[in-house]
Amino acid sequence: MVSPPAVSPLSWLQPPGRSAPPRVERAGPDDASALAALAAATFPLACPPETQPDEILYHITHQLNPIRVASWLTDPLVVVHVGRLGQILVGYSRLSFDPAETDPAIWPQLKRRPTCQLSKCYVQPDWQGSGLADQLLAESLAAGRQRGAKGIWLGANPANLRARAFYGRHGFHDIGWRHFEVGGHLFTDCLMERDLAEP
Ligand SMILES: CC(C)(COP(=O)(O)OP(=O)(O)OC[C@H]1O[C@@H](n2cnc3c(N)ncnc32)[C@H](O)[C@@H]1OP(=O)(O)O)[C@@H](O)C(=O)NCCC(=O)NCCS
Repeated sequence: MVSPPAVSPLSWLQPPGRSAPPRVERAGPDDASALAALAAATFPLACPPETQPDEILYHITHQLNPIRVASWLTDPLVVVHVGRLGQILVGYSRLSFDPAETDPAIWPQLKRRPTCQLSKCYVQPDWQGSGLADQLLAESLAAGRQRGAKGIWLGANPANLRARAFYGRHGFHDIGWRHFEVGGHLFTDCLMERDLAEP
């Protein structure tokens, strides 16, 4: 009779606390497809309840497809960090230094220049509250400082209380509003900014 394996073949799927923490590092071109899958899976988590499924699907298809995501990883104006658990990506942050990604209505509201945008910070639900998001954000802040940015800004839906509490704990303040389109639906996000001179 064959004995069962001592370790489950799915042991890498262990929940937080029972496996090694994810390794946070800069993403590379080889991460494109896993990152696109993570981006697609986590984008709905940031959407307010009134967002329609077809709007979310449109956004994922056009903004977070593997070709688009691959382009981030070779763009010199974009820095992506990931939380890596073996072969699996469980969180990511995306920092952009590209002024073309900033709606002109945002510029007059920003208090610090030069600036950069934390355009994404997403953690898979099992890893929320684990400290992974803190590490991803810390790496993005460090990358912003390293390139000489004095400030960093982001947009978050007002109903996304968890994200807003997280950013508030990390020194971001509400400074105004921005529009953000998801599949043709225009949302008004809180515009938050942080001084990068502060630790
Ligand atoms: C936003 C995100 C990256 C934060 O990471 P996290 O690991 O969940 O953050 P933390 O648990 O460290 O902090 C969340 C804070 O919100 C608080 N919180 C949790 N649920 C809350 C709720 N419903 N209302 C208000 N605050 C809430 C937590 O108590 C914690 O407060 P604290 O900072 O005072 O301790 C993560 O939740 C995420 O990926 N969310 C889905 C995607 C998303 O919304 N991304 C941001 C887009 S702008």
